Amino acid sequence: MIHAKGLCKAFDENSGPVLEDISFSLSAGETLSIIGPSGCGKTTLLYMLADLSQPTSGSIAIGSTQGDRASCTTSIILQNFGLFPWKTVSENVALALKIRKAPKTVVASVTASLLEELGIGTLASRYPVQISGGQQQRVAIARALATDPDILLMDEPFSALDAMTREHLQNTLLAMWQKRRLTYVIVTHSVEEAVFLGRTIMILSDRPTRIRKVITNEGFGSQALRMEDQYFEMVRSIRRIMEG
Ligand SMILES: Nc1ncnc2c1ncn2[C@@H]1O[C@H](COP(=O)(O)OP(=O)(O)OP(=O)(O)O)[C@@H](O)[C@H]1O
Ligand SMILES: [Mg+2]
Repeated sequence: MIHAKGLCKAFDENSGPVLEDISFSLSAGETLSIIGPSGCGKTTLLYMLADLSQPTSGSIAIGSTQGDRASCTTSIILQNFGLFPWKTVSENVALALKIRKAPKTVVASVTASLLEELGIGTLASRYPVQISGGQQQRVAIARALATDPDILLMDEPFSALDAMTREHLQNTLLAMWQKRRLTYVIVTHSVEEAVFLGRTIMILSDRPTRIRKVITNEGFGSQALRMEDQYFEMVRSIRRIMEG
């Protein structure tokens, strides 16, 4: 589904490369957490996966055949939610479908069912300023899912939220994955979040950034994981690697 090979990214020659030789593959339905120090290039990597930025060298193939992006749809959720303040909750969610000129009845039914699924059905006609941060993030998730993407890319989607809301939305995301089995990549600063949401966890180094370690997180996929010993053990071992 995603094949990244030897990715390097430099913004200008004087400051040296940000990312150096990043290679990984992610199969359909898999989930990847990316964790690493601030400024190491996580957002840069995600933007390249979203085709919003190009690698200086190396290649990214997305979809079933080499470079066949057209067969594979991608949505991205940014850290600041990215909602349009002048549009209501349902208009924000409907946006991508409207741009694609989907029939009005389809737009209405997809929007309504996603709002319901995310527990914000009663907020459909409110504007973003009239709802909480956690609710805004739900709108951003609904909007990203409206086009039924094959791949969902998320850049610290829950970092602006309080701890309880954050855990609640992590559970919601996991439930969405269990239902849809879409492929997702989540960038996070939180070791706990990385362990709860990624079957694969990629730990990045300081700049020039390389992959420090890739870990398979066997316990991933269970809502009950947070209470299990293997979860705490995984959190501990990632912290050791990051400190090491
Ligand atoms: N458009 C750009 N032009 C020049 N330098 C850039 C650009 N975008 C990012 N950088 C630099 O690349 C490095 C990595 O930035 P990036 O935003 O990818 O880091 P990050 O790992 O997402 O950090 P954080 O955890 O703080 O979000 C930083 O040093 C940043 O200043
Ligand atoms: Mg970032």
